[in-house]
Amino acid sequence: MDDRKWASEILDKVTCKMKAVVSRNAHKVPYITTDGIYDNRDGDDISWWTNGFWGGVLWEMNILTGDSFYADLEYELEEKMDRNLMSADSLSHDNGFMWLLTSVYHYKRYGNRSSLNRSLLAANNLAGRFNPNGCFIRAWNDNGVDDCRGWAIIDCMMNLPLLYWASEETKDPRFRNVAIKHADRVIESFIRPDGSVCHIVEFDPETGERIRSYGGQGYGHGSSWTRGQAWAIYGFALSYIHTGKEAYLDTAKKVADYFIASIPSSYLIPADFRQPEDVSLEDTTAASIAACGLLEIYRISNEKKYYEAALGMLRTLSAKRAVWNPDIDSIIEKGTVAYHEGEHERGIIYGDYYFIEALMKIAEIQFFPW
Ligand code: GLY
Repeated sequence: MDDRKWASEILDKVTCKMKAVVSRNAHKVPYITTDGIYDNRDGDDISWWTNGFWGGVLWEMNILTGDSFYADLEYELEEKMDRNLMSADSLSHDNGFMWLLTSVYHYKRYGNRSSLNRSLLAANNLAGRFNPNGCFIRAWNDNGVDDCRGWAIIDCMMNLPLLYWASEETKDPRFRNVAIKHADRVIESFIRPDGSVCHIVEFDPETGERIRSYGGQGYGHGSSWTRGQAWAIYGFALSYIHTGKEAYLDTAKKVADYFIASIPSSYLIPADFRQPEDVSLEDTTAASIAACGLLEIYRISNEKKYYEAALGMLRTLSAKRAVWNPDIDSIIEKGTVAYHEGEHERGIIYGDYYFIEALMKIAEIQFFPW
């Protein structure tokens, strides 16, 4: 069957299942499943970094079905998330994940002032995390345990489009300048010669000198956390799309080539490409995110290997890891939060979000919130 038709048919199954899932979870803010049931990150957890992905799923459903029910729920979520904009601890380098998929997309589509206001507050806060001495955006806030004043993480590449958008919107280049300086430092400090990527790099917050890297959510120091590789592929492709800087496309391809060479013959992606051979831990979210990045690299470069790798992972996810039973909340099972933490091989909201986004790319349905 032709790929576009195949993707459209899978998206029909997605919309059918999600009608039940969204109705059941309408006023929740889902993140992860336990025994097939989504939790709720509303209330005290409204600052959780993944909360924008529920908004992203709602926009996807709105576009695929034309049903305003989903857009109304997205607006409800955006308003709930406003509490974060009045709390310094609730804002972080993840502002992009949280507001690009909610208020920025809403504003771009409908031009409403309240969504614009939220988006600019989030972008200003993100730009304020930039450390001019090390030219990096600080990752997490103080947690009372680690001194992470000098920590940057690869995931942040996905938050930079909030800054590119803010410069386009305000015609003020400050935001884009911050994004470019951060991306340039990531090329120099995170990307290894073989194309694999570190999760966390620590810089001296006073001098900006690179001190060391950490294994973070992967297997360990020097390992290759697959979701981190995927963030790098898609993140650098997005920085290329917004700036036209060839170094970003070259970096996206370098990490993509490493990722493709590491894909097992099963097309099932492990949690870490360097985990011990006797460990079978999987992370389907890495497959969906990488597929989105590879499809963008293919669209830009027309190099078929990127398309084929993305399609191989998506077809495998849909044949082997998708659950179409409407009583189970998530679509894709076997997402892993972190190698050394307990939440392994579950349904995770961003796994479903990127799976749908990737299928929409194959089906040529316009949706680009980044
Ligand atoms: N951004 C955190 C993660 O990928 O789990």
